[in-house]
Amino acid sequence: MTPSALDPRGRGAEVIEQLWWVLLLVCALVALLTLAALVYAALRPRHEWQRPAPEQDRGATRAIVYAGIVGPVIILAGLFIYVMAALGALSVPGDSPYTIVVTSYQWWWDVRYRFPEQAAGFRTANELRIPVGQRVRIDLESFDVIHSFWVPQLHGKIDLIPGRRNEIWLHANEPGVYRGQCAEFCGLQHTRMAFHVIAMEPSDFDAWLVQQRRPAPEPGTEVERLGREVYESRGCTICHAVRGTSSRGNVAPDLTHVASRLYLAAGTIPTTRGHLSGWISDPQHVKPGVNMPRVPLEPLELHNLVTWLLTLK
Ligand code: CUA
Repeated sequence: MTPSALDPRGRGAEVIEQLWWVLLLVCALVALLTLAALVYAALRPRHEWQRPAPEQDRGATRAIVYAGIVGPVIILAGLFIYVMAALGALSVPGDSPYTIVVTSYQWWWDVRYRFPEQAAGFRTANELRIPVGQRVRIDLESFDVIHSFWVPQLHGKIDLIPGRRNEIWLHANEPGVYRGQCAEFCGLQHTRMAFHVIAMEPSDFDAWLVQQRRPAPEPGTEVERLGREVYESRGCTICHAVRGTSSRGNVAPDLTHVASRLYLAAGTIPTTRGHLSGWISDPQHVKPGVNMPRVPLEPLELHNLVTWLLTLK
């Protein structure tokens, strides 16, 4: 289901929804009045078209002054003040207990949680988790081209521009999964550059933070150990990172807790054994143009690799 900006679930989107309705109603009212005046003028009997009497002339002048100048000035000034107030309500707070830094790539989202204590931070991808009822600050950067970050049910759009840092905040009223989408055409897979914001109860969120800070679990079985060996020996580590292994690649999603995410490939496929196997065997089939290369693997290697990756919760 496509999320709608007119179905807000957070404070930012509520301000924007109200702004939309007020502007629509005021503009519709003005358009209707103007149309009514036009229809009235067009339907007047012909004999009234003669040169009007002087007092009628004065009436026409008054109408022009009030309906053409005073009215619009009052309406536009009122809307200006209202819009400025709405923008103030959407401005980014200076202080925040932590910041989420989102960096856009063609075609996925790198997500870093930053805390005052440097050691507490971690990386994930394509998924932002936030606690319900709190405004969370998001800093936005781009690695390559201009992208746009949009979670219609939580806030408005904001561009990610190379060489520049933009800011926004997210707030959710209730727990839920809110789909986000890149809203600026950025190449072949722009459509499949989605992400999800998962709003959680604060206690669940804290537990999630603790779990995300941990390194990847050690393989528990021989199959998992062989799977990790495939990951470390077949080129995956050039681009990807898994904390707890030797891999430090940073141009592709961090996979430390990849199995805890709802989706793979930026919202394209759900995290299941079948989809993950299909993605690794032929990424170009799932997302033509994607930078992930196809690594030729024996069926058994693929099985071991996927088994290990799915333990990375
Ligand atoms: Cu990124 Cu469109």
